[in-house]
Amino acid sequence: MLNHVLGEDETRLAVLSGERLLQVDIQVMILPTFNQLVATPEVKLLHEHGHDNIYHPDGKLNVRGPPTFLFMQTNKRCNLRCGHCTFWKLDDDDRARYLSWDMKMEILDEFKEIGGQTLVTCGGEPMLDVDDYFRLCTEAKARGLKMFSVVNGTKIKTIERAERMVSGGPTEITVSVDSHVEKIHDRVRGVRGSFKMAVSALRLMIEARRKMLAVGLCKCGQSHESHLVVNGYCVPKDGSCRCQSYSSRAVPKIYAMTIVCERNYRDLDRFYDFVLNDIGADKLKLNIMQPTFGQVTPSGDEFFETEQVKDPENLAKVINECNDKYKLGINGEWLRQVKMYFSSIAAGKTAKLGWLSPNGTDEPICNTYDRNIMLDVYGKAQLCFADDYGGMNVEKPGDLRKFWYEFSPPIRDKMLTCTRYCGISHSVRRESATIRRPSES
Ligand SMILES: C[S@@+](CC[C@H](N)C(=O)[O-])C[C@H]1O[C@@H](n2cnc3c(N)ncnc32)[C@H](O)[C@@H]1O
Ligand code: SF4
Repeated sequence: MLNHVLGEDETRLAVLSGERLLQVDIQVMILPTFNQLVATPEVKLLHEHGHDNIYHPDGKLNVRGPPTFLFMQTNKRCNLRCGHCTFWKLDDDDRARYLSWDMKMEILDEFKEIGGQTLVTCGGEPMLDVDDYFRLCTEAKARGLKMFSVVNGTKIKTIERAERMVSGGPTEITVSVDSHVEKIHDRVRGVRGSFKMAVSALRLMIEARRKMLAVGLCKCGQSHESHLVVNGYCVPKDGSCRCQSYSSRAVPKIYAMTIVCERNYRDLDRFYDFVLNDIGADKLKLNIMQPTFGQVTPSGDEFFETEQVKDPENLAKVINECNDKYKLGINGEWLRQVKMYFSSIAAGKTAKLGWLSPNGTDEPICNTYDRNIMLDVYGKAQLCFADDYGGMNVEKPGDLRKFWYEFSPPIRDKMLTCTRYCGISHSVRRESATIRRPSES
C-alpha cells in the first residue's frame, strides 16, 4: 500500500494539523517506496512543522513519521505501596515468559533504525533489577538513543550508586516525590521512610553530578584530571583537549515528579521551593493524577475518587502563581486542559469506577498514537498503555517496524477521538506542561 502513496497525477496531500485538515501541494509524482516519499523535502518540511498525520486525499493514513518514544516495561513488581498504583500487588514470577534480552536488543536496533529517539523505562520499579537496568542504559546510549527513566529513589542509597546513575545511567533521571511534606509523601507511597529515600537519592545524584562536572567531562568524552572550570566550561590545564565544553549529552538532567491531587496541590509553592532551591533539582514535573494504575476491578477506585481536585480553578490559580514566581514557562493550553480534565470527571460522576468509568474528558487531549510505542514485559506492542485498542506481539526482527507502519494505522484512526482519562498523562498528552525554550531539545 505504501508503494502507491500518490498516483501519477496527484500533487496534493491532506495533512491533519490539530483538528484541521489542510491541503498541501507536494511536488512528487510516482514514488516507489515509503522511504523515498518521506525523504522528499516537502514531507520533511511537514514533519519539521509537526505535521505527522499526512493523509491521502481519500482520507486514508498513508505517511507517517517515526515513533519518538519507546516505553519498555522492564518488570512489574515494586517495593513501595502507592495508593495510586497497584504494581506492588504484582510479581515477576512468570519472567520465563518475558521478552529475551537478545530480542530487546533487536528491538532497540530496529527502533533506532526507523528513526526512534528515546527509550523510556517502565515498571514496576525498574531499579529492582539493577544490573539489567544499567545494562539497558548502556545499550540504549551506545545506539545513540536518549534514555529517560522514572524511579522511586529507593535503590539510590550511596554516593557510589548515585555516581553510577549520573555517569552510566539514563540521560534524564526522574525521581518520584509526591510532596515536600514527609508525612504526605509517605502516606501516598504507602511506606514510611520512602520520602527520605527519594529526597536522599536526588541529593546524592546532584552531588555526584557536581563532582562529575568538577572533574570536567568534555565534549570529547574524556574526564580531565587537571583542569580549570571557567564559566562552567572545562579547560584542561595540560591543553590535552580543545573542546572546552561539557558534553550536554553526558550530563544527565535530574528531575523530581509529583502526582497532582487534592491532597497536595494547595502547597505547590513550598513544594517548588523545596525541589528547586533546597534540593536543587532541575525541574519539578507535574503529573496529573489518573485512575489508579493497574486497578481494573469493579470494587472501586477509592484513591481516584477521593483525591479528585474539587476546585480546578483554584488549582489553576496555584499553578499560575508558581509559574510567575519560579518562571516555569507553563503552557496555558495545557493548564486549560487540566481544568477541563477535572471538570469532566466531576460532571461524569463516575470517578469511583476509575478505569471502568464509562465517561471521559470533554475533548480528546492525547496524541500517543503519533509518537509512542509501549512494549510490555511479554513483548506486546501497543500505541498506549490502555488495553482497549489491542496490540501486536513483537517476536522477530522486522516486527517493530511492522507494528508502527502496518498494524497501527486503523488503531490511530480510532484513537484520534479517544477521551479516556489517561489522556492527561505526561507520557501521552498532546500539550506539554511547559513551553519549551529554544535551547531545549
Ligand atoms: C508507574 S511509576 C514507575 C516508576 C517508579 N516505580 C516510580 O514510582 O517512580 C511512574 C510514575 O507514574 C506515576 N503514577 C503511578 N500511578 C499513577 C496515577 N494513577 N496517576 C498519575 N501518575 C501515576 C508514579 O507516581 C511515578 O511517578
Ligand atoms: S507508582 Fe512506582 S513506586 Fe508506586 S507502586 Fe507504582 S511502581 Fe511502585
